[in-house]
Amino acid sequence: MVKKIDFYKFYQNKKVLITGHTGFKGSWLTTWLLNLGCNVVGVSKNIPTKPSNFENLNLKKKIKNYYLNIENYKKLKKIILKERPNIIFHLAAQSIISESFTSPLETVNTNTQGSLNVLHASSFLNNKCSCIMITSDKCYFNLEKKAGYKENSLLGGQDMYSGSKAAAEIILQAYYHSFLKKNKNLRFCTVRAGNVIGGGDWSKNRLIPDIMRSWKKNLKPKIKNPKSVRPWQHVLEPLFGYLKLAIFLNKNEKLNGESFNFGPNFKKTYTVMQLVKLLQKNLNKKNSYSFKKKSNFHETKILKLNSQKAYKKLRWKTLLNLDQIGIFITNWYKIYFRKNSNMYDFTIKQIKEYEKKTFN
Ligand SMILES: NC(=O)c1ccc[n+]([C@@H]2O[C@H](COP(=O)([O-])OP(=O)(O)OC[C@H]3O[C@@H](n4cnc5c(N)ncnc54)[C@H](O)[C@@H]3O)[C@@H](O)[C@H]2O)c1
Repeated sequence: MVKKIDFYKFYQNKKVLITGHTGFKGSWLTTWLLNLGCNVVGVSKNIPTKPSNFENLNLKKKIKNYYLNIENYKKLKKIILKERPNIIFHLAAQSIISESFTSPLETVNTNTQGSLNVLHASSFLNNKCSCIMITSDKCYFNLEKKAGYKENSLLGGQDMYSGSKAAAEIILQAYYHSFLKKNKNLRFCTVRAGNVIGGGDWSKNRLIPDIMRSWKKNLKPKIKNPKSVRPWQHVLEPLFGYLKLAIFLNKNEKLNGESFNFGPNFKKTYTVMQLVKLLQKNLNKKNSYSFKKKSNFHETKILKLNSQKAYKKLRWKTLLNLDQIGIFITNWYKIYFRKNSNMYDFTIKQIKEYEKKTFN
């Protein structure tokens, strides 16, 4: 059990480096860490979307930013050794499956080599540091299984994004066995979460942003794979898992090199269409979607995670059901589309609402 007071105490004044801080999950994590009293440093290649959650939350002014491609090992090492973080959350990635079909080399260079660069550069730190390396639920070789994948399930992929994340998992394990067992300062875990949704996502070819963009223009979004089952979870759920894991990893050397799934109870997953209908109801939209005939690349129909390890070792599980996730998301976009809203304050409000549920 981690009590709220210990959670805040642990993070107070910690130096935390986030790669991928300008993205969807990175901007939420940055905001949460600021609220916990951390000194946050961000490393990202660019601001990936327009609009951008990072820009809307005005995070540029609140933290120290480096704009760097993590494929540049030399410069990355310089930044990490200069900043001497206590904790690193590595989220930077080419994160869009469809883009991995047009940019296979970039996908592998960033997701696989880039992840190794972060860990290898951190291994030269002379202070203690815990790295939480974010990969993906897509790292599992998909067998369209009804039961959820466990951390020791077969890794692999049928697209370059999934393959690059599976490869990152394999390479980081090899790195652990080759170098990190003897390193007194650096500990790491890899984490695999899936289908993370929430306000502030503006990525292309993702369900929620595609829907919100279309509805804003009074257009009908095209829904692909309506019957696909996904382990939807609100962005705050896996982020809380990552934050909790960093605390446990700091205390417990035995977690070094371990992997964790962070997903909802695998018996309670929902289809794409169930989520679309929920958002439609909350935003009072009528018949406002159409269907895309066929996706032009391979996508899994069922993808479920077994997250019992995270429950056993960290007492982590998802807390929000689909209705609550829907409310969190639609409230966020309603406020966003209102003029002159302070999205930083509203995001903190949602974080505090979530914390109340976790620490009650
Ligand atoms: N969003 C999801 O549903 C989901 C699901 C599973 C795993 N993930 C993983 O979580 C992490 C964060 O996802 P997200 O949705 O916030 O992604 P995102 O696309 O919104 O953000 C990606 C971030 O990585 C940075 N980046 C990309 N290439 C880089 C490079 N070469 N060098 C430095 N920075 C680079 C971008 O600037 C941006 O800050 C990624 O590793 C992603 O693969 C996300």
